[in-house]
Amino acid sequence: MNTPNSRAIAAGVLAELVLGRGSLTTQLNKYQDLPDYSLLQETCYGCCRWFHLLDFILSQLLAKPLKTKDIDLKCLLVVGLYQLRELSIPDYAVIDESVSAANSLGKTWGKSLVNGVLRNYLRSRNEIEQVLDSDATSILYSHPRWLIAEIEKQWPQQAPQIFSNNNLRPPMTLRVNRCEKSREEILVVLAKASIEAIAGDLAESAVYLDQPAAVTTIPGFNEGWVSVQDEASQLVPGLLELEPNLRVLDACAAPGGKTCHMLESEHSLTELVALDLDSSRLSKIDDNLDRLHLRATLKAVDAADTDRWWDGQPFHRILLDAPCSATGIIRRHPDIKLLRRPKDIKRQMAAQHALLQSLWPCLKPGGLLLYTTCSILRQENEEIIAAFLDTVDNAKHQRIAADWGVECHYGRQLLPGTSNGPDGFFYSLLRKD
Ligand SMILES: C[S@@+](CC[C@H](N)C(=O)[O-])C[C@H]1O[C@@H](n2cnc3c(N)ncnc32)[C@H](O)[C@@H]1O
Repeated sequence: MNTPNSRAIAAGVLAELVLGRGSLTTQLNKYQDLPDYSLLQETCYGCCRWFHLLDFILSQLLAKPLKTKDIDLKCLLVVGLYQLRELSIPDYAVIDESVSAANSLGKTWGKSLVNGVLRNYLRSRNEIEQVLDSDATSILYSHPRWLIAEIEKQWPQQAPQIFSNNNLRPPMTLRVNRCEKSREEILVVLAKASIEAIAGDLAESAVYLDQPAAVTTIPGFNEGWVSVQDEASQLVPGLLELEPNLRVLDACAAPGGKTCHMLESEHSLTELVALDLDSSRLSKIDDNLDRLHLRATLKAVDAADTDRWWDGQPFHRILLDAPCSATGIIRRHPDIKLLRRPKDIKRQMAAQHALLQSLWPCLKPGGLLLYTTCSILRQENEEIIAAFLDTVDNAKHQRIAADWGVECHYGRQLLPGTSNGPDGFFYSLLRKD
């Protein structure tokens, strides 16, 4: 049997994303058994990260744009350009393989086009790179125009750093289960296994690995000593002021990173109820709980539909880690730059508002609700809280006193960090009178 052409597969994956279908993670999951999966993964992530810039370069090389029905061929050219610019594969190999990928896509007529465009790029790359140097932010930083405009408006000082950090490869961060081991002990265990790592600055449980590694190679992962979780998320249990005998709700819980961390942080909760709309994602919480020897009550429900799942017993603490645009985690999911549209933000805002309204009655007087998102857009963050506070008279915003992030009117914002920094994340605490 012929080995599938990984450039043709990468072009197919990219074309689906450009057409707004699926996500990079779901698309790539189908190909994990391929012999050159790591090249496919590197290519697809890189092409998403640099799509807007590569598309611009392509427009300089094509006499006229390709038709929508040839989106796969266009994406194959983007794949070829990415590999020529960024990977240490010999130029001739990239061109030969890209030409045969046109065949694999069933577009024999495109072979000479692919050959011509990629060779033309190699001949004229200096002039093209010069044009890039003088061109628009959207192309240089490779982001959609609407998102560039939104971030420049909302974060004028920080915008260039945000764009540039969004294009970095994300760090792999571990959360130490401090009931099992101290962070210092884990750093020693990692050093013994020749895994270079440093402690995070913000969360006491965070450890940054120098290089990403398969979880199976990380000592103590199977034993439940460590989990993979960004440092921004690891700040959640501390903010919720957990203590023994509290009943806690994690309303949008899957895959359960924060559920497990709350249980690791406070062993004597009366109960932790974890909800998620998506039952397949909910089963990932089960896997995580098993590995860490923890217990929670799981329900696959719409958290906003309280008539369906709530027994009327109020919660002392609620975590609402709301669905959002994920604009704070573009470095981890660069396909967000291709998939997200302005109308998605409006849709998420409606869901965020509805969840907050429905869950508020489930909180006990005196209790705390922590609203979080991995968005850096104010519409999904402080504006949601402001709109909510306008509708209820028994909620008070509680300031988060901390030396990290940017203080906002109704919360605190972490902006996407550099290689050893956290994801972009928003936190707002509300106390019930
Ligand atoms: C940001 S993710 C949660 C991440 C999770 N808290 C963690 O730390 O691993 C948002 C989750 O909300 C879920 N979701 C979206 N709308 C929901 C709803 N109405 N009710 C319950 N879950 C919902 C999604 O399925 C998704 O798993």
